[in-house]
Amino acid sequence: MARPLPETAPSEATRRPEPAQPVSEVSERRDNEELAELLRPAWADVDLDALAANYRALTRRLGATGVVAVVKADGYGHGAARVTRRLEELGAEMAAVALLEEGAALRRAGVALPLLAVGPASPVQMPLYRRYRIQPTVSGLDQLAHWRQWARGLPRGERQPFHLKVDTGMSRLGVALDEVAEALATIRAEPALDLVGVLSHFAEAEDLETSHNREQEARFAGVLPRLPADERRRVRVHLANSAAALPRPGAGAGQPPPATSPGAAPIEAGEEEAAAGPATVEAAAAEFL
Ligand SMILES: Cc1ncc(COP(=O)(O)O)c(C=O)c1O
Repeated sequence: MARPLPETAPSEATRRPEPAQPVSEVSERRDNEELAELLRPAWADVDLDALAANYRALTRRLGATGVVAVVKADGYGHGAARVTRRLEELGAEMAAVALLEEGAALRRAGVALPLLAVGPASPVQMPLYRRYRIQPTVSGLDQLAHWRQWARGLPRGERQPFHLKVDTGMSRLGVALDEVAEALATIRAEPALDLVGVLSHFAEAEDLETSHNREQEARFAGVLPRLPADERRRVRVHLANSAAALPRPGAGAGQPPPATSPGAAPIEAGEEEAAAGPATVEAAAAEFL
């Protein structure tokens, strides 16, 4: 039965909303965590020993080639700080993130490895790259001009290290091939700019049949002779992402993939189990020293 309408308007007291209960920040956070667990009851067990086994399998495969451990997006969800600290212990030469803030978080977590940020920097972020010792990736002539401007303001004798990304076919980020000469001329003319790396990125490394990977390798190999021999020895040259690192361990050095690996990545017998462990080095840009 319908409730009879009140004969009089509700009093002021009943219309005023109830004062909000004071909720402490801590309990609010706990409530949110509980809610998240209820809404998405999923978790990942990350086994850092499996990660270490995978890393060792990869480095055995790569031989003298070093590894830049790409740990962007919280280490692809594996926990960037824990993963990076472990890879640092294992001898990775560098870790790479996408964003400045990811690199800063790693520094705050005690990571001492050289860090590279592969995403572009805005001019206001440049002091923070320096404060957190994160090497930027310069992916265009406009970005190079900004870094040159910034580097000119450094105290006398100090230089800004950076990696130059060349677009060999990804068509997303990188100095175009026909701009490389201008980029190198700009770098040569500015003593405060310190070129410490040259990189590119495969567009479809996971496709082992496509000819695009060889084409990109060839274009990249065509850029390297533009560096004087002493610079070529000094800079880190890196091209192969995870999908390329196993089938094309020579990528970047201008070498073709080994004859033993026309198809799936050939991991030595006995290493397969480790490589299939639950925590993999999700992204490892192989680096050629
Ligand atoms: C330059 C560069 N190299 C390597 C990687 C790692 O790629 P993947 O996750 O495919 O191994 C990335 C990822 O963003 C990248 O930007």
